Amino acid sequence: MTQRLTLPRPDDWHLHLRDGAMMEGIAPESARHFARAIIMPNLVPPVVTGAQAAAYRERILAVTGPGFTPLMTLYLTEATDPADVVAAHAAGIITAVKLYPAGATTNSASGVRDFDRVRGVLEAMEAAGIPLLTHGEVTDPEVDIFDREAVFIDRVLDPIRRRSPGLRVVMEHITTSDAVAYVRSQPEGLGATITTHHLVINRNHILVGGIRPHYYCLPVAKRETHRLALLEAATSGDARFFLGTDSAPHADAAKESACGCAGCFTATNTLSILAQVFEQAQALDLLEGFVARHGAGFYGLAMNAGSVTLERSESPVAYPARIETGAGPVTVFDPGFPLYWRVL
Ligand code: NCD
Ligand code: ZN
Repeated sequence: MTQRLTLPRPDDWHLHLRDGAMMEGIAPESARHFARAIIMPNLVPPVVTGAQAAAYRERILAVTGPGFTPLMTLYLTEATDPADVVAAHAAGIITAVKLYPAGATTNSASGVRDFDRVRGVLEAMEAAGIPLLTHGEVTDPEVDIFDREAVFIDRVLDPIRRRSPGLRVVMEHITTSDAVAYVRSQPEGLGATITTHHLVINRNHILVGGIRPHYYCLPVAKRETHRLALLEAATSGDARFFLGTDSAPHADAAKESACGCAGCFTATNTLSILAQVFEQAQALDLLEGFVARHGAGFYGLAMNAGSVTLERSESPVAYPARIETGAGPVTVFDPGFPLYWRVL
């Protein structure tokens, strides 16, 4: 008998859609399956004002059409005006504000160096109920790249949470058991997104048998114990954990380079991969919460109307190895195992 799984239309709580020719090529890959997504603001130049977010939203909708709702974010800088943030949120232009420590990842040069200089914005956000989304890695050159998330929790995140206990925070794309434990230690107001690829790969996949640039992303995948902690959190039914794919396209030439860009492009096959991962964990019944329920609850939004249906095939399903865009081809994430779940 054919096995089918019908879910409410899912949401992606962390997505890079880029702009221009790249966006035209890759945005349909997300809009096909997802009803809404939190759109990252790390364009060049970054999206720092409400007016820029409104203009970017129009450019996205021109590509995706109205069946997809981009939930916009502002890129927090030391010059961000609290009044602009609050006004953009009140006007329904933005959903959240993104904190990048300066230099932590792709296009983060305008991020925050001195966290005391954004106190005023964080206080205004706390008062207005605007969530803060964190790229949780310190950039201190003394700190090993595999430790940067755990150190961020101690040095940056926990102090922010103590000074602004009412500020709602989402730890984006968590990669460690430390982050899972920190979320669980907090009584309220803290959630975390988990990507598709961090449920599948550990650091061996990047480095053993040759360097695999298409598995390199930030935060970088950690050792297997951490992947297992993420898998346990995602498949536990705990509503504080929800999907944020962090699907982050770069043209292949920029990835397959002496200094390759960070980012895995998973929009095309994310739902197939997740169905398989949850099935293997004997948690297929909990996939709906992870992709369609928990995030909406955290953000105080209604679940989406409509549904998507996945069907389990006898033989592996085909998906494109790369998406051709006007900015060059973009390799689709290869989970390293055949996929049997197809989105109908
Ligand atoms: C993202 C990108 O390319 O914009 N890259 C990544 O490796 N995840 C930035 C980010 O989310 O860190
Ligand atoms: Zn990202």
